[in-house]
Amino acid sequence: MVSRTFNDLGIPPMTSDSSNKPAAERSCLTVILAAGEGKRMASDMPKVLHPVAGLPMLCHVLQTSIEAGGGARAVVVGSQAERVAAAVGDFDPNATIHEQTVRAGTAHAVLAAREAIEQGFDDVVMLYGDVPLIRTETLKTARDQLAAGQHIVVLGFETDDPHGYGRLLTEGDKLLAIREQKDATDEERSVTFCNSGIIAFSGEHVLSLLDAVENDNAQGEYYATDTVEIGVARGLNVSAITVPEEDTLGVNDRVQLAQVEALWQQRRRNALLRNGVTMQVPSSVVLHHDTVIERDTVIEPHVVFGSKVSVAAGATIRAFSHLEGVSVGKNAAVGPYARLRPGTVLGEGAKIGNFVETKAAYVGAGAKINHLSYFGDTEIGAKANIGAGSITCNYDGFGKHKTIVGEGAFIGTNTSLVAPVSVGKNANTAAGSVIYKDVPDDDLAIERGEQVNKTGRAVTLREKNRAAKEAKSKT
Ligand code: UD1
Ligand code: MG
Repeated sequence: MVSRTFNDLGIPPMTSDSSNKPAAERSCLTVILAAGEGKRMASDMPKVLHPVAGLPMLCHVLQTSIEAGGGARAVVVGSQAERVAAAVGDFDPNATIHEQTVRAGTAHAVLAAREAIEQGFDDVVMLYGDVPLIRTETLKTARDQLAAGQHIVVLGFETDDPHGYGRLLTEGDKLLAIREQKDATDEERSVTFCNSGIIAFSGEHVLSLLDAVENDNAQGEYYATDTVEIGVARGLNVSAITVPEEDTLGVNDRVQLAQVEALWQQRRRNALLRNGVTMQVPSSVVLHHDTVIERDTVIEPHVVFGSKVSVAAGATIRAFSHLEGVSVGKNAAVGPYARLRPGTVLGEGAKIGNFVETKAAYVGAGAKINHLSYFGDTEIGAKANIGAGSITCNYDGFGKHKTIVGEGAFIGTNTSLVAPVSVGKNANTAAGSVIYKDVPDDDLAIERGEQVNKTGRAVTLREKNRAAKEAKSKT
């Protein structure tokens, strides 16, 4: 079991009265619940590690919490605890891990992180590891409310289909209670204002509120939502803020995972469009969580971005291209139908055409690989031109070897470059050559059988073949 202690983090203890500190100065602990089993995912992988845009959904939640600022993160694990803890450790080594050994409700889960909470924070925000679309701004708004004197702020949403959610029972602006579906009366069930599950607490009160929660309800669980009624009875300031329903979507099965992925993709594409990226059919473009695309670029339909891709200003990625681990330089052009694999770097104005695959390939400024080629483990100098169908023979069954093509070199159509090999600056290779020896600068390398023309032989060959065919059809 991976475990880190809170004392290592050097987080200052909470001052006795944090109520009038400005929001920016308030310390914050985010407690992320990730102990659930996720049976409906039908998966060997823990639910919270299923990726959205290539990043585990739990890491999206950690990322949002980091961006919202103010502090520390505690993750409550249970099901497949070691695996979840390891993923958290990779992404956010400062987050602390707390194990909930029995699943006894959301209040019980938050209290698994008691050690972290006891360090003392102005704000304690409870998030779910399976609700990955929650926005940084929403968390900031909730914390602003705490800074303004609220003690409990619940994130609620309006929905046409409230079944299964806790209902927010209000009187005017005041939040009085949250009633879980299974404990609600028919009248309470008709309420459409629901609990997203996300609650921000004043750090000063959070432990005493959670400790007061009991489990005398339909599910026999300790509900974090009961803190609302307890807080109201104690005269604390309790309120709800409304967030869009889609921001609070939880993932229980792969249908919901696909919905969340679609929403994430749409959000990010819209952000790119607003920042100056043109997409004719945005819905067909698939982004990765770390895709970077600068302004005045064009992304044609059906382009897929894998991890670690950046596209510089002015570049065009044409239809049906697949990029992963690639840096596309300014004004470069890729595709249609190109596959750029990890380690590909395209210089300014470089051009990669259709049915071209590259891997660990540096393609210099203005160089062109326009048609039907494979270039792996290679450096191509500026303005070199690679003819159609040319291939690097980079793998001998045991190791990978390097091919270097000098600046301004011209590689003839259907050249095989048997690595390790280099072609010098401004050198040429003749079409169809198998180049296995280095070519000096400015040389022309020809490696192919000499052509022989047999006078009139095409005619005799045709007649011979025709006669043979006729003889066969008569038998
Ligand atoms: C909870 C809320 C409900 C809200 C709904 C929103 C409570 C009592 N109810 O209900 O008001 O409308 O979320 O989706 O809080 N978890 C643990 N350990 C536990 C229990 C839960 O880690 O012992 C985690 C789960 O993995 C999940 C989250 O907490 O990520 C919520 O638990 P879940 O069982 O889905 O709660 P709901 O019944 O949906
Ligand atoms: Mg739920």
